[in-house]
Amino acid sequence: MRAVLLFSSITLIAASPLTPKKPDSAKPLTAAQKQDYAKVIQPIFDANCISCHGTKKVKGKLRLDTLEATLKGGKNPTFTIGKPDDSMLLARVFLERTAGDVMPPKAEKPLTKEQKEAIYAFIEGQPIPAELAKAALAAPKAKK
Ligand code: HEC
Repeated sequence: MRAVLLFSSITLIAASPLTPKKPDSAKPLTAAQKQDYAKVIQPIFDANCISCHGTKKVKGKLRLDTLEATLKGGKNPTFTIGKPDDSMLLARVFLERTAGDVMPPKAEKPLTKEQKEAIYAFIEGQPIPAELAKAALAAPKAKK
């Protein structure tokens, strides 16, 4: 009896890495999150990202010109709301300006601290504070 129990628990442990992980079932965005995206995040992407991630150019197979496209991701997923530490988009936006993978790329106008913080808050699932939103949107636009 003991042997049987032991055997079955070993099989369980052995099987777990092979079981395909279900993708995180991303919760739909709340109305407030959609509003934050439209008011703050999309304008940041419009000014700084869509020249390479929009209808004309789709670098990294990623479009950032609509919420749907942003959530769909490119070659890799962009982010899951509530999981900032797992977000490739966030990681690349926060890289040092000298890093090869930084977004926007080195030669482009960098995002401001407030823009990065607004994106962080959004991906964290927090409401973007009004002051931060204002500061993020006040940043001069990147050349198109
Ligand atoms: C001048 C062009 C350019 C601009 C502007 C730009 N990117 Fe990119 N981006 C690229 C290129 C080229 C790639 C593909 C190569 C790579 O992954 O580095 C890429 C890839 C990415 C990826 C990885 C896509 C994937 O699924 O692998 C992310 C995320 C990203 N960019 C985010 C951004 C964000 C956010 C902005 C604006 C804040 C931005 N990019 C602005 C050129 C640009």
